[in-house]
Amino acid sequence: MKKNIYLPDEASTETLAAQIVDALPEDITGWIVLLQGDLGAGKSTLARGMIRAFGHAGTVPSPTYTLIEPYEISGNLIYHIDLYRISSPDELQYLGWTDLEDGLCIIEWPERVPGLSAQADFIVSLSYKTAARVAEIRSSSERGAEIIVQLNLK
Ligand SMILES: Nc1ncnc2c1ncn2[C@@H]1O[C@H](COP(=O)(O)OP(=O)(O)OP(=O)(O)O)[C@@H](O)[C@H]1O
Ligand SMILES: [Mg+2]
Repeated sequence: MKKNIYLPDEASTETLAAQIVDALPEDITGWIVLLQGDLGAGKSTLARGMIRAFGHAGTVPSPTYTLIEPYEISGNLIYHIDLYRISSPDELQYLGWTDLEDGLCIIEWPERVPGLSAQADFIVSLSYKTAARVAEIRSSSERGAEIIVQLNLK
């Protein structure tokens, strides 16, 4: 399953984030969402929009140096992950990667760790379209495909 969405501005990236969260089930345990795209393509904007759509009111710091920023939002665990600076896939174990199955993982720069797309539910690839962006959402699991079908896009 695959859909393309035109995102004329930052607000529309945030709207897409809210629509994705709306489409996710109540229990997000073990869900994996990958965010791909060049530097500045809008991955963090989308991740931040999702975390806020779950009800987080505070700041959403970039996980560039910590690699993982955890959130607990009304019983839901969310891990915002940025693998840009990971030195080797082994580093994930030291960072507690094995605990991450208890929540939703939103992962920027997943290409840094080979094999992640096989574990993902869906992948959002953001690309530049002059000053705007385009998102391609494609599923990587059956339940991920159901989310994309449900996405209520304009
Ligand atoms: N749909 C959009 N149209 C135009 N600008 C956008 C859109 N979405 C996000 N932006 C802008 O793009 C810039 C970079 O966004 P962001 O930090 O989310 O990118 P990123 O992909 O996470 O970058 P990095 O690879 O450095 O982590 C921000 O200034 C943001 O406002
Ligand atoms: Mg980012």
